Amino acid sequence: MRRLAILVSGRGSNFEAIARNIAAGKLDAEIAIVISNNPEAKALETAATLGIKARCVPSKGVDSDTYAARVRDVLAPLGIDLIVLAGFMRRVGQPLLDAYPQRILNIHPALLPAFPGLHVQQQALDYGVKVSGCTVHFVDSGMDTGPIVAQAAVPVLDDDTAESLAARILAEEHRIYTEAIALVLSGKYRIEGRRVVRTS
Ligand code: GAR
Repeated sequence: MRRLAILVSGRGSNFEAIARNIAAGKLDAEIAIVISNNPEAKALETAATLGIKARCVPSKGVDSDTYAARVRDVLAPLGIDLIVLAGFMRRVGQPLLDAYPQRILNIHPALLPAFPGLHVQQQALDYGVKVSGCTVHFVDSGMDTGPIVAQAAVPVLDDDTAESLAARILAEEHRIYTEAIALVLSGKYRIEGRRVVRTS
């Protein structure tokens, strides 16, 4: 069984969707651990409810490389196949990138390369785009820049608020993250430059 580590910072709805998809037999994997950088994260409670091992590794006052080395050391004995960032709001430092090359995925609530960074649903509204969505991508040392595994688009409606747009995008996040994880775990792809190309 392929083993996932899920990194979270807050609500954890993507983590919960992945856990439920595993329980429903839609994804052949197990969640070996959930790590939160935030001791207050609701995701920690959800993990406890679901009986999934979880641990807080606090990031407050810790630089990203030191933090990445700490997470790497927690994960080292666990035989992790893939790290899944699910609402993890810190940059991933080099020690973790080096330990898991092209084995870290992130989900972002915009159609990259549009709107990297934070508060991106508001950015999309302010810019006036008519379509937004979400992106699953491999994590590299840039900000939301790694090769794209999957995207889904949603309409931006005239009466949207950042919250209503975020909710529409989130429903797609919950769907495509599991699909992207399944593809990566299957190994049926190759990375050509920036392109993630399916193989049979
Ligand atoms: C999700 O919308 C995710 O795409 C976003 O945070 C939210 C977390 O929700 N991630 C980022 O913005 C990463 N830069 P969740 O905790 O309920 O999964």
